Amino acid sequence: MKNISRKNFLSTIGIVGTGAIAAPSVIANNEVPMDFLNEKPFTPFDRKIKVGVIGCGSVARKYLPHLAACPYAEIVSLCDIKPERAKERAEHFKVQNWYPDIETMLAGVPFDLIVNLTNMQEHGRLNKIAINAGKHVWSEKPMANTYAEGAALVKLAQSKGTKIWGAPMVANSPQFAYMSQQIQAGKLGKIAGGHGSYGHQGPSWSSFFYEKFGGSLPDLGVYNIATMVGLLGPAKAVTAMTSIVTPTREMEDKGHIVVDVEDNAHLLLDHGNGIISHIQCGFNYVSPHGYEGDELTTLFVGGHDARLDMIGYDWAPFRVDVTDVQNGTSVTNPFATDRGSYKWEEGASTICEHLSTGKELVINVAHVLHVLEIIEATRLSQETGKRIPLKSTFKWPMV
Ligand SMILES: NC(=O)c1ccc[n+]([C@@H]2O[C@H](COP(=O)([O-])OP(=O)(O)OC[C@H]3O[C@@H](n4cnc5c(N)ncnc54)[C@H](O)[C@@H]3O)[C@@H](O)[C@H]2O)c1
Repeated sequence: MKNISRKNFLSTIGIVGTGAIAAPSVIANNEVPMDFLNEKPFTPFDRKIKVGVIGCGSVARKYLPHLAACPYAEIVSLCDIKPERAKERAEHFKVQNWYPDIETMLAGVPFDLIVNLTNMQEHGRLNKIAINAGKHVWSEKPMANTYAEGAALVKLAQSKGTKIWGAPMVANSPQFAYMSQQIQAGKLGKIAGGHGSYGHQGPSWSSFFYEKFGGSLPDLGVYNIATMVGLLGPAKAVTAMTSIVTPTREMEDKGHIVVDVEDNAHLLLDHGNGIISHIQCGFNYVSPHGYEGDELTTLFVGGHDARLDMIGYDWAPFRVDVTDVQNGTSVTNPFATDRGSYKWEEGASTICEHLSTGKELVINVAHVLHVLEIIEATRLSQETGKRIPLKSTFKWPMV
């Protein structure tokens, strides 16, 4: 990882030689006013939303079937800088138009919503081009590389009369809703905190996961962070350590590469009122949970009176195990066992339903920006050895 030296860092933020050093916050003067982030009333389209999908790689194989089956969406164009991928997917899903880059896509058949499934490093740049062309945006995570870039996208979208939202969709699961409702009902008593863990051995197909602005935080940690702040409330500060455990990798697209960004991260979040949570993520974890999460806890929140264990990964949970104390003995029972229709890949379809019918969303872009600030603050904490205060917030509880 390219850690900048402490001297260079201090000089960058302009506080060398000023004596006492206050921990910098990530967002500095890029704060987006809360009223700006409140979802404004709008007139629903009252028709199918015309969708252009950019990025036809791995995750598109999950998104496209969901979108194709969505009654509120019509996929009108596909795009990939590897155009053979766009062509192949277009033929498979009977989409009439496919393009090799965003410029020809925007100049081609008209659409309402762009669904950005490209490399993480490209999201902010492509989202900006799409907003400037008057498109609504659903972006895979992260919606931008930095909080400042994300906040600027939100402001730009408002000035253009469009909207932007981003993954992940974890707050949409019935298990998230159940946990949130239990917390809000006071069932946990005095809450102490929580723990979330998500890792595997790392993607093998695309090098961007290990290049600057990639990493295990925006690819994996983003889920647990979104869930934890969604359940326990916006965080006030981050203290963290990150590392690179595997400095080189053999990748399917580029062969031997040098890993440039954290593949191991541990962060502590201060949610206020004494509530502290811990999240770990990385690309060097042999998981006993299996791809589907099996029957094990991947995230829990606990208080004096009860503990809630999310069984399965937060992006596709199976149920919630509730433990409390009855007659001096701890008792665990399963709840929220119905997984409903929730799928982690439903983000773009959910946005199409929202735009088409006006149906209220659980997710909001302020939550996504808060998670982005936490990811940046985690890296800043590692670089500076400091606790990093956070400024962003979002409407909470979400459910
Ligand atoms: N693969 C998964 O299971 C998964 C799951 C959830 C989220 N995601 C997220 O989805 C995003 C994509 O991941 P992936 O695994 O599908 O990667 P991928 O490498 O398989 O696919 C990315 C595609 O985007 C294309 N692309 C890159 N830059 C482009 C540009 N400027 N214009 C047009 N096309 C461009 C690439 O050619 C490639 O086909 C990432 O943000 C990742 O974190 C992936």
